[in-house]
Amino acid sequence: MNGQRRLALPDPPLVADGFSLRPWITNDRDVLASVWADSEIRRWASVPSNTDSAAAERWISGSSQRREQGLALDLVAVATDDGRILGEVGLSAFDLERRAAKIGWWTAAAERGRGVATAMVRSLTAWAHDGPLALFVVLAEVADTNRASVAVAESAGFDFLGSRPLNSGSDGGPELVSSTKQLVFASVRSRATARTPTLV
Ligand SMILES: CC(C)(COP(=O)(O)OP(=O)(O)OC[C@H]1O[C@@H](n2cnc3c(N)ncnc32)[C@H](O)[C@@H]1OP(=O)(O)O)[C@@H](O)C(=O)NCCC(=O)NCCS
Repeated sequence: MNGQRRLALPDPPLVADGFSLRPWITNDRDVLASVWADSEIRRWASVPSNTDSAAAERWISGSSQRREQGLALDLVAVATDDGRILGEVGLSAFDLERRAAKIGWWTAAAERGRGVATAMVRSLTAWAHDGPLALFVVLAEVADTNRASVAVAESAGFDFLGSRPLNSGSDGGPELVSSTKQLVFASVRSRATARTPTLV
């Protein structure tokens, strides 16, 4: 899918019960490095080979450029009470002609099992449909063996579309690469109610 234009941040920022979503900032580098070291994240997600704080800082410093180039919009869920990082949700693989994008997510190990991923996905998906991007379709691709993430897609209201074989060149973690197929889920906005995208 092609990203074709600058991706504006949600304005006002998205909020959910107990957290708000904001872009990554440099001070998050140590948390991001620890997330990259987490075995569950490494198992299912694409993690750079260098996972130290300096690498995390470089990745964070590239996030505004990825937005400028229309490649990715990654947001961090930050707890309302003490500012700790709960998880990340992001859009990528934009196809603005078809008005579609992919969504991905993770929850920090200490925060799992209390609805963070579901709330993040619901919040960003609603904005993707109803905000300036006015996307018709938000897709989620989950390895069939990643039961927790399948449950997140279902709990966030995505419909199961079907499955496809995993590319041998998949850039996920080892478990993802050895999974046999990806399950494809979609959140589809009705054309009858969809609005015209706002150019930014
Ligand atoms: C998958 C992940 C994001 C779930 O985050 P979470 O904040 O714990 O998810 P939620 O609390 O919103 O749970 C959503 C649903 O998943 C279910 N779930 C959570 N963990 C589960 C598990 N290990 N096995 C089965 N179901 C699970 C919950 O019971 C809930 O279902 P319900 O709504 O029917 O009660 C988290 O485990 C994670 O970050 N994993 C590693 C990274 C990853 O897999 N990313 C996604 C790649 S596609």
